[in-house]
Amino acid sequence: MNPATRYRKLVSTASIVVGLLFVLAGLLFVLSGHALSEGKNKAAKKSTSDGSDSVLTRSLEPLLEKVVQPFRAPELSTVPDDAYGESILRGKNYLEHTFETLPQFVGAKINCTSCHLNSGTTQFAGPWVGIVARFPQYRSRSGKVDTLIDRVNDCFERSLNGRRLPEKSNEMTDIISYMTWLSKGYAIGQDIQGSGMPKLVLDRLPNLQAGKAVYESKCAYCHQNNGQGLYTEEGQLVYPALWGANAFNIGAGMARLHTAGGFVKKNMPLGQGGTLSDDEAWDVAGYFTQQSRPDFKNKKKDWPKGDRPKDARY
Ligand code: HEC
Ligand code: HEC
Repeated sequence: MNPATRYRKLVSTASIVVGLLFVLAGLLFVLSGHALSEGKNKAAKKSTSDGSDSVLTRSLEPLLEKVVQPFRAPELSTVPDDAYGESILRGKNYLEHTFETLPQFVGAKINCTSCHLNSGTTQFAGPWVGIVARFPQYRSRSGKVDTLIDRVNDCFERSLNGRRLPEKSNEMTDIISYMTWLSKGYAIGQDIQGSGMPKLVLDRLPNLQAGKAVYESKCAYCHQNNGQGLYTEEGQLVYPALWGANAFNIGAGMARLHTAGGFVKKNMPLGQGGTLSDDEAWDVAGYFTQQSRPDFKNKKKDWPKGDRPKDARY
């Protein structure tokens, strides 16, 4: 072996040894890193199962609580072309023509959509968009957790002065189908922009004389001077009754000043929502809610826990 070859051999042996050392060091590093992160994971798991909040949940929770989902009503063209789609459309029809299609369950001559405007797709007019994501829900008026079916039946009994639609009826299923279709894509438990009826609360009693004047100049040309609404000779609804035998009863949400004031301020006169001043809306709401209307026989059972709101009629 000449010196040059021996030298080359030496160098290559040395480089193999150095290389091996590197591999070993790398292996140790990876192993220790793994052990370290295992330890961390265990610690994290321990802290969440302890109930003490981990950094992740602590930073996300306030964000999740604040999410308000944008309002979007689906296009009618997206109703599926199948049995479920047929149920959706039947449900929509019951809600729009309630007193004609379900006369055994409706005492008033108004429809669900007389208040839940545009088939329940209008913001600030009790929309049903996203409604299935809000139920079941505790309600102080009933003092218990209500399902969506319970809530629908509350409006049958009060807003339509009628009777409860059987839970297992095809008609109830169709109504729930329509509301479910309107709720597609909404996350459960998060708010939706413009849901519910707006509330108007002024710090004074309504002036009924002023309210009468507002009614006569801005409401009567549709709802009529006597508040009985306008119907064709065949009995079809043109403008719904606001009081009297054909209107919602005193147990209805619309019989309450804050709700009626908010609804009127935002939505009436129809097509000119927002044109009344707060004072006008407050006074006219005081005027029409206090006219005579059917009683509600189960009113004594309302707010069983004693948390009756200020504007309740009884
Ligand atoms: C006279 C007006 C009126 C009529 C008619 C009416 N409702 Fe209502 N509805 C209300 C009011 C007011 C509320 C309460 C909204 C609030 O408190 O924010 C309500 C609430 C509801 C809710 C719960 C809404 C929510 O966002 O939690 C559903 C569901 C509902 N109504 C369904 C119906 C159905 C179905 C009919 C027909 C059988 C009907 N309503 C007829 C006025 C009416
Ligand atoms: C241009 C006609 C028109 C005018 C003016 C008008 N409304 Fe209405 N109102 C309607 C119609 C139509 C509905 C039912 C909505 C539907 O079917 O789309 C309605 C619904 C209502 C409802 C809920 C349904 C019911 O029967 O209880 C209330 C309450 C109401 N109007 C109050 C008023 C008040 C108060 C005024 C005056 C400030 C007023 N409206 C002015 C046409 C009108």
